[in-house]
Amino acid sequence: MPAIPADIASADDYEPHARQRLDPAVWAAIAGGSADEHTLAENRAAFARIRLNNRVLADLSGAHTGLELFGQAMEHPILLAPTAWHRLMHREGELATAIGASALRATMVVSALASQELEAIAAKAVSPLWFQLYIQPDRGFTHALAQRAEEAGYRALVVTVDAPVTLRNREQRAAFRLPAGIEAVNLRGAPPPPAPRAAPHESEVFKGLLDGAATWADIATLRQHTRLPMLLKGIMTPSDALRAIEAGADGLIVSNHGGRVLDTQPASIEALPRVAEAVAGRVPLLLDGGVRRGTDVLKALALGARAVLIGRPILHALAVGGATGVAHVLKLLRTELEIAMAQTGCPTLDAIGPDVIWQP
Ligand SMILES: Cc1cc2nc3c(=O)[nH]c(=O)nc-3n(C[C@H](O)[C@H](O)[C@H](O)COP(=O)(O)O)c2cc1C
Repeated sequence: MPAIPADIASADDYEPHARQRLDPAVWAAIAGGSADEHTLAENRAAFARIRLNNRVLADLSGAHTGLELFGQAMEHPILLAPTAWHRLMHREGELATAIGASALRATMVVSALASQELEAIAAKAVSPLWFQLYIQPDRGFTHALAQRAEEAGYRALVVTVDAPVTLRNREQRAAFRLPAGIEAVNLRGAPPPPAPRAAPHESEVFKGLLDGAATWADIATLRQHTRLPMLLKGIMTPSDALRAIEAGADGLIVSNHGGRVLDTQPASIEALPRVAEAVAGRVPLLLDGGVRRGTDVLKALALGARAVLIGRPILHALAVGGATGVAHVLKLLRTELEIAMAQTGCPTLDAIGPDVIWQP
């Protein structure tokens, strides 16, 4: 079992160690964002700008971090965000991640681009799993994949809707290619996208999107094909949030994909309050993007999220310490959340309200 380096005291401390261990092109692919990476930086900067109020002498007897989401009891509100190809970080890939998540009884969202079979991951996991889907050009394959996840015991579907096309310059400059032997194994057998229709223009982007990309109608159809709670990931505006609920979403993940899709979008934490106001509690909101501290988790909950998801720090910890690293980084975040709750006088997650946020 790999030892955790002694100088790791926070989630961010895993980053330099991971960078040292990984191939530079792989590093560029995981660390990078879209285009000039303004949104990537904003996800962190926006959390830092939000100030907290302390609250002293509160009665914290019986304090806990438990919650219930979609009828599922969770010990804490920290989930693992879906991220592709964990075998780039560690030879056991998602199997190691699932073991680490289970040690902290954290819900893991397994990516559609996982490098291990979803059934094999389920066999390792003790804590609940959710499955993330990208709607594939072949809708029959997409529905069958959702069915497969349901049969394997996954307890929710996360449909990522914000990434039909991407522009990742850092990844391009580093000439990142998936190494031989690592692939999205759960998409094996997916029929190839149909040949593009003759378009009235020569745009590669639009030709590629015309026949394959998902629309709102696909969400409503998918809703009919699964009994699992269905969340949409990548919702950043009140109007999309309302549309998603209309299309049958049971939950929303306010996310800009970790700054990896549309550059100069706002930070997800800045987008959250408006979405929360529009949704007005009709469905639970989750948030990801730049969550690196227990105080970030607290801020997200104060501004309307029920839970958060963690992306890159999980990958860093996996690269450095395998399952042990994943368990450790989750433990650090959970402990920091408990400290932040104590310092702001919140014995339960429900007690974390807008009043913990300092107003200038
Ligand atoms: C290397 C990498 C791969 C990702 N792969 C996926 C994916 O397969 N599906 C998905 O919905 N989101 C994916 N994401 C986005 C994450 O789910 C999440 O939105 C983001 O990482 C959160 O931001 P953070 O990294 O700042 O915590 C990926 C992110 C990274 C960094």
